[in-house]
Amino acid sequence: MKILNIVGARPNFMKIAPLHRAFQAHPKITSSKILHTGQHYDAKMSDIFFNQLELPQPDYYLGVGGGSHTYQKANVMIKFEEILNEERPDVVLVVGDVNATAACSIVAVKMGIPTVHVEAGLRSGDRTMPEEINRVITDAIADMLFVTEQSGMIHLAKEGVSDDKVYFVGHVMIDSLIYFREKASKESVLEEIGVKPKDYILMTMHRPHNVDYEKGLKDIIQIIKNATKHKNVVFAIHPRTSNNMNKFGLYEELENIEGLHLLGPQGYLQFLKLMDNAALIITDSGGIQEETTYLQVPCMTFRDTTERPVTIELGTNFLMKDLNPETVRIQMEDILNGNAKQGVIPPLWDGKASERIANILVEKLGE
Ligand code: UD1
Repeated sequence: MKILNIVGARPNFMKIAPLHRAFQAHPKITSSKILHTGQHYDAKMSDIFFNQLELPQPDYYLGVGGGSHTYQKANVMIKFEEILNEERPDVVLVVGDVNATAACSIVAVKMGIPTVHVEAGLRSGDRTMPEEINRVITDAIADMLFVTEQSGMIHLAKEGVSDDKVYFVGHVMIDSLIYFREKASKESVLEEIGVKPKDYILMTMHRPHNVDYEKGLKDIIQIIKNATKHKNVVFAIHPRTSNNMNKFGLYEELENIEGLHLLGPQGYLQFLKLMDNAALIITDSGGIQEETTYLQVPCMTFRDTTERPVTIELGTNFLMKDLNPETVRIQMEDILNGNAKQGVIPPLWDGKASERIANILVEKLGE
């Protein structure tokens, strides 16, 4: 069996790494190749992840770069079709909900190549999020769907997806976390920044609805100012957010906040170490909600909805419906005063999801 694995943006790399490892170890899988669409192209957003996650260089690199989502997807589709014609894999595997996920699924399904979606069934219910559209499209057309949490099974059943396509296997991103946690613990990032375990709040923020407007950016600055009254704040700022801080003339104010350690995007190992030792994480990311649930670190997520409800029901995640600095301050102080949820680790988040997927693929699609 020849598998072609697709990656496009940062959150894909830690999901493909354990799958590629499991595929290579499986005697019935003869080839596991990687195609990178190039949506994330910076050394810090892409290359460092290949090195740290022990991934080989991609076999194919489409180099689509940034641009509108339509531009990205259209370019990916044209270039991907040429490669599929040449490569003819037995399986195309996509993960998550980025532009590459939907664009490559459409091309592969149209060419009659069995297409597998890992991290299927998640729904925020908010169709203004580009990721939600990518999830709905991919799940509607893929041939096999691998699900990380119970809510995914429920959504797919409601959408009329037949049971025999759907498998609840746990979470490949947690496979990476478990595999690399020990190695990450040896990183010296805390000493380099000058913070101590549990003495800082870790922050990331990049969703267009939070960071594309001046008001959201100003609220983020005020939230950081309030937070630094209690703890150091370590902000691993995404390129979208720093570009916008500059655009609205706010970067200098941000940079000068006392007690704030402003960093660029972090490597996988450094960020894992930072998460593992944080007192609290403030974010609007998808995956960080899950990683903090596994690590049992409190997480405040700046979103109206989450497509990952298990992180609220069982985990350590709280949703903050808006960026109102006063509401955030009250919730943050409550958590720092010891009123965070304890949380438990969701079912099957045990480091073995990739092996389960490899076995199921061989059983169902192998001849
Ligand atoms: C993408 C994903 C999102 C994921 C996020 C994680 C989609 C729809 N969105 O959003 O789900 O949570 O990645 O990072 O696929 N840029 C750089 N260097 C890079 C990559 C991007 O400077 O290596 C800049 C781009 O030029 C652009 C901005 O960052 O100005 C946003 O990048 P884009 O790829 O459009 O989406 P993300 O917001 O990163």
